[in-house]
Amino acid sequence: MTDLHCHILPNIDDGAKNLDVAVEMLNMQKEQGVRQVMFTPHFKIDEMTYDTFVQKREKSQQLLSSHEAYRNSGITFKTGCEVYFSLKLLELEDLQSLCFEGTDYILIEFSTKMKPYGIREALMKLIGLGYTPILAHVERYGYFAENPVLLYDLVMDGCLAHINAETLLKNSVRRKTAMKYLKWDLVHFLCSDSHSNEHRTPNIKEGYEVIRKEFGEEYVQWLISNSEKVFDGRDIDLSVVKKPKKFLNFWI
Ligand SMILES: [Fe+2]
Repeated sequence: MTDLHCHILPNIDDGAKNLDVAVEMLNMQKEQGVRQVMFTPHFKIDEMTYDTFVQKREKSQQLLSSHEAYRNSGITFKTGCEVYFSLKLLELEDLQSLCFEGTDYILIEFSTKMKPYGIREALMKLIGLGYTPILAHVERYGYFAENPVLLYDLVMDGCLAHINAETLLKNSVRRKTAMKYLKWDLVHFLCSDSHSNEHRTPNIKEGYEVIRKEFGEEYVQWLISNSEKVFDGRDIDLSVVKKPKKFLNFWI
């Protein structure tokens, strides 16, 4: 399996707080059956310059790759990041270092508190420049849950989306939202978004189990193959998206 979103790189964000935690998280990924990992530390352009971020990420990866657990893990690693949405991103000359390594896929998260201004236009511009935005943990945004057509429109524009495994395992309100997004085929990947070895741990296997029970093996295999393809920089096979409809007060 492939995990496209996790915070295993040490000492760079609110993920692994040191090398020991990072190594423990790598071991947990291995126990989960994960064999490809994309490192995705947070990048906020309003808080750190692009150059500083890239330098910090390189230093963190050098530290982790110096450990024998990294070299002997049997896991293939690549580097990307989780980009916090800002219109300032469009001012950057080159977004390639923010993409998943060797690909044009770029992982983007939004504010959970309020719908950011201009997301559709900005994401369309990124798509026009040849990038494919992957929207992080779409079940977390209340403004999508209140009006899932917003998410539908972004997917129809060419964005891809993922949900977190943890959502399916722990949070009942978000879980219902995530299940609806899966039902409408608005989700393309399951990721761990793991942050530590104690809370928000690597848990992608258990997440797939929940999807398997509800939607069957074929759906799970499609999600798994999507992550593999994106890791390799290939296109995924898109399914037919269903448009959410409102019936009385419910989105069905
Ligand atoms: Fe994350």
